[in-house]
Amino acid sequence: MAKKMKGFSAGESPLPPDPRTSPDGSPRVLAGPLSATGFKGDSPALNPYKKIVIVGAGSQARYAIDNFLAQGAKPAGLIDVETKKNVGQKINGVAIAAFYDDIAKHFTPKSYQVIIAYGDNAKKRELALSLTKKGYRFVSAIHPSAVISSFAEVQKGVIINAGAVVMPNAAIGRHAIIHSQCVIEHDNQIGAFANIAPGVSLAGRVTVGEGSYVYTGASVIAGITIGKNAVVAAGAVVTKNVPDGGRVAGVPARPMAGSLAAR
Ligand SMILES: CC(C)(COP(=O)(O)OP(=O)(O)OC[C@H]1O[C@@H](n2cnc3c(N)ncnc32)[C@H](O)[C@@H]1OP(=O)(O)O)[C@@H](O)C(=O)NCCC(=O)NCCS
Repeated sequence: MAKKMKGFSAGESPLPPDPRTSPDGSPRVLAGPLSATGFKGDSPALNPYKKIVIVGAGSQARYAIDNFLAQGAKPAGLIDVETKKNVGQKINGVAIAAFYDDIAKHFTPKSYQVIIAYGDNAKKRELALSLTKKGYRFVSAIHPSAVISSFAEVQKGVIINAGAVVMPNAAIGRHAIIHSQCVIEHDNQIGAFANIAPGVSLAGRVTVGEGSYVYTGASVIAGITIGKNAVVAAGAVVTKNVPDGGRVAGVPARPMAGSLAAR
């Protein structure tokens, strides 16, 4: 069983009936292999009694729309966190219902659950704090083609895209995003608000700190720790630990100009 990650209080509040069961008690048919839905944490099967709102209107919002639709659920709307000028426009069939400041006027915490779909990790952290204060609960958007071990832990507000693989005893922190075709090997610890870009391969027992970016196609060898708010450049092969705030690139990865030396 994955080691419980800090900041995750199991049983925050009595969850509604098992979302993998339809209101009439029959098992809810989810696209994709059952094993993909067996993991612990905030099941991708949505709370049938609450509708979904996506906070964000950019590329991550389009991922979330894809993942929810593939689960047979249609988001109620998008919230733009950058501008009011796009309100009313549709993104892949889902309307931008409001600007962030007006979210509660359109979608009450009582009837809606939210996911933050936004590319800047620091801004995502701010939004999570603000939405929590407003009383919203978070849901995850996981594509049914992602394969997630039933011994893995996935926390709230996580996006996991098509073809990603999460192996046994790995843990994905709240509001992290695991892009398409990533391999998150056994016992990995992915920090909250981390962004693991498309095609990244993390070998076993790798830790990625809160708010860090591991960019497209990077590889990390077994047992490595990448600190908080760090950046691993696209295509890098990381063979040494990366400190908090570190920026590394290349094969093997070396500190980028102006970055803290990778010990
Ligand atoms: C790491 C990264 C963010 C750095 O961006 P940046 O800070 O703007 O850096 P610059 O482009 O100014 O490059 C600085 C130096 O690092 C080098 N560099 C940048 N990215 C590199 C990479 N991926 N591998 C090797 N070297 C790299 C540049 O060639 C440059 O070297 P120079 O000073 O000798 O010319 C960026 O290059 C990168 O890897 N982006 C990938 C983003 C991605 O995967 N997005 C998908 C999100 S889903």
